[in-house]
Amino acid sequence: MANQLFVVKSIDELQAQSSPEHSSLKRTLGPFNLITLGIGAIIGAGLFSITGLAAGNNAGPAVTISFIIAAVGCLFAGLCYAEFAAMIPVAGSAYTYSYATMGELVAWTIGWDLVLEYAVGAATVSISWSRYLVKFLEYYNVVLPPQLTMSPFDSITTANGTTITGVVNLPAVFIVVAMSLILIKGTQESALVNNLIVALKVGVVLAFIGLGWAFIEPKNYEPYIPPNTGEFGSFGWSGIIRAAGIIFFAYIGFDAVSTAAQEARNPQRDMPIGILGSLGICTVLYILFAHVMTGLAHYTEFQGVEGIAPVATAIAHTPYKWLNQGIILAILAGYASVILVMLLGQSRVFFSMSYDGLLPKIFSEVHPYFRTPWKSNALFAVFVSLFAAFVPARVVGEMTSIGTLFAFILVCAGIIVLRYTQPERERPFKTPFVPVVPVLGILVCFAMMAALPLDTWLRLVIWMAAGYVIYFNYGIRHSKLKPAES
Ligand code: ALA
Repeated sequence: MANQLFVVKSIDELQAQSSPEHSSLKRTLGPFNLITLGIGAIIGAGLFSITGLAAGNNAGPAVTISFIIAAVGCLFAGLCYAEFAAMIPVAGSAYTYSYATMGELVAWTIGWDLVLEYAVGAATVSISWSRYLVKFLEYYNVVLPPQLTMSPFDSITTANGTTITGVVNLPAVFIVVAMSLILIKGTQESALVNNLIVALKVGVVLAFIGLGWAFIEPKNYEPYIPPNTGEFGSFGWSGIIRAAGIIFFAYIGFDAVSTAAQEARNPQRDMPIGILGSLGICTVLYILFAHVMTGLAHYTEFQGVEGIAPVATAIAHTPYKWLNQGIILAILAGYASVILVMLLGQSRVFFSMSYDGLLPKIFSEVHPYFRTPWKSNALFAVFVSLFAAFVPARVVGEMTSIGTLFAFILVCAGIIVLRYTQPERERPFKTPFVPVVPVLGILVCFAMMAALPLDTWLRLVIWMAAGYVIYFNYGIRHSKLKPAES
């Protein structure tokens, strides 16, 4: 049994699988499309929503510093992803890399953990989508019953002072189901549509920064680092670090570029460009955006449920209120593409795990006509909908962040392991300064994890424990990869 836990996939076989003769996927993506693919997956609820929550509850205007800290962690992890993606350009991403380097148990750990990144991440974005939809409709005097737009753990206080508690978040369920249906039908999100949505999203961010800059009230930056309230994570430096762990969510998605490795024309050269390029562009945009946002409105205005749609709150301080509707519409479209990419990433990882025998076949059964893993998509539509309907944004957002940080740590560790176990292997892109960069990646990501609240840690532990129960009762017995006879 111990042998089975450490059995590794052969990189040569993986490379052969990804060669043009064996791959059924077309190699059509160049560097530009890979960067836009990354930006399409990255800019979403983290920026347009969680920035508000993190500024309001944890860091105040210093959320800009949190964005810098999170970017540093992502840069280190991104450099490690780039080495793997250029060396093993196959679908499955971090799960496949760890199967090839650290063995089956670590691969299972990462594959199971990625559910937090992709499925729970999709739920987080859908909750924010729901909030912005409510804002959008309010403008036209369409008021959805608040009970049907919030989880049972959320409440709002109306103008006349009554508090309304949520029951179920139906718009969030709607968008999850809609995106799942598109995935099942298998409409390839064409590069053109993605580029259009990316242009919209980046346009909105630039417009917000450019137009908002002139209306920044310097007194909103005083104090830039609000004093700690006496509780860890609530303002002060501990708040900045905790906010970094929370808004880290905003950077998630650059790793999605690596899942498209099999569709890249020249993965050896273009994977690093796609991963690091999209990450770099988003970092600059995020810091400027957060600076303007907390300059327009005082951070205390982002506390409570308003923090979920902070752009609307901030814009109210400019003469451009008419822009609000256009911006919200772009945000709604932009979120839809993030949700789609996350649900797609989820089904690809479970497809690979099921293909390897670690999960039941249902996750890799392909629809005879649509050629998509439709049963898997349908099951995840239900799973993600449950989170979207009944769990508050903070909880799912932090679960996504902690799960992804954990995956990044394992990817960084994988780079170090592979440099020692297979030093002679050809590496088209080399992470610089190994082991310094991966070790720093591990440390920064762990610091962000450590600053997340205890309840989020408990959820991670429970989730992973459930995964090991499944692995030791199912995966280990059904795995197709067997250790060599000794
Ligand atoms: N980075 C993605 C977002 O912020 C997940 O929505």
